Amino acid sequence: MEENLKRFVGQHVIVTGAGSGIGAGIAHRFTSEGARVTVADINQEGGMNVVKEITGKGGTAQYQTVDVSKEDSILELVKKAQETFGAIDVAVSNAGISETQASCLEISGAEWDRIYGVNVRGSFMFCRACANNMMDNDVKGSIITISSTMGRTPKNMTGAYASSKSAVIMFTKSLAKALAPMGIRVNSVAPGMVATNLYRPVETEMMMERDEFVPWIIEQCITSGQLLIPRVGTPEDMAATVAFLASKDAAYITAQCLSVDGGMDWSW
Ligand SMILES: NC(=O)c1ccc[n+]([C@@H]2O[C@H](COP(=O)([O-])OP(=O)(O)OC[C@H]3O[C@@H](n4cnc5c(N)ncnc54)[C@H](O)[C@@H]3O)[C@@H](O)[C@H]2O)c1
Repeated sequence: MEENLKRFVGQHVIVTGAGSGIGAGIAHRFTSEGARVTVADINQEGGMNVVKEITGKGGTAQYQTVDVSKEDSILELVKKAQETFGAIDVAVSNAGISETQASCLEISGAEWDRIYGVNVRGSFMFCRACANNMMDNDVKGSIITISSTMGRTPKNMTGAYASSKSAVIMFTKSLAKALAPMGIRVNSVAPGMVATNLYRPVETEMMMERDEFVPWIIEQCITSGQLLIPRVGTPEDMAATVAFLASKDAAYITAQCLSVDGGMDWSW
């Protein structure tokens, strides 16, 4: 990261799923660039820890609880976040969950709904609540969703997750069209593989140790030539792109999905 870059001084940035992994990296990036950040997560312990780390480094952050699968919880989050840190300038819809490795022929309806409830409905409702907050306060802000490189390639064993992330890419573009007249930009970042808690259910199911799954896939992708930049992605890689898209440097960019995946072309 370029030292002394301070593009978000005076701005309120809200990040869902900021209690761990990529979301925590995004929260750290924005506070290091001068923003006040609302760390929103269903996991209070994780969220409070991230706030503690940020304030320990001299940054400004607050924790607010949210379950993005519940619309009331999202509306309460936006209300409380504004009470402390003011109108929202940047919203990052990052909270997401992965599924068990069921084949498209086997996945249950309940599991499908669980994935879509958080990744699609939850993400959309959060973005819309933040858009309403921006419009109510005449803020020409920026909204960024976190989709996935999996949302661009068909999958069998992760059909619900992959298609949920395709839906995220598409509603991002729809929202960008709806919000363009108000000067609000909406874009998506599609991460490749980052070693986070997202893969814990997969590791359990595949009887792997913690942190074993991602290096295993990365190694396969490197060996087969499916990963052009031969390393795993980091939360910092994702956060740098999210910050770019939220900044004035991206003032002419909207309705886009930017892959940050080392040139991954992984089919499974
Ligand atoms: N890690 C990867 O390789 C990867 C790749 C592509 C996309 N993504 C996406 O990046 C985003 C962040 O995932 P991550 O890898 O950092 O995983 P993670 O599990 O570390 O973080 C997800 C966070 O979302 C929170 N969360 C889950 N359900 C929630 C709910 N209902 N309401 C509020 N918060 C909730 C969790 O508590 C957690 O803190 C997700 O949308 C994920 O799909 C991750």
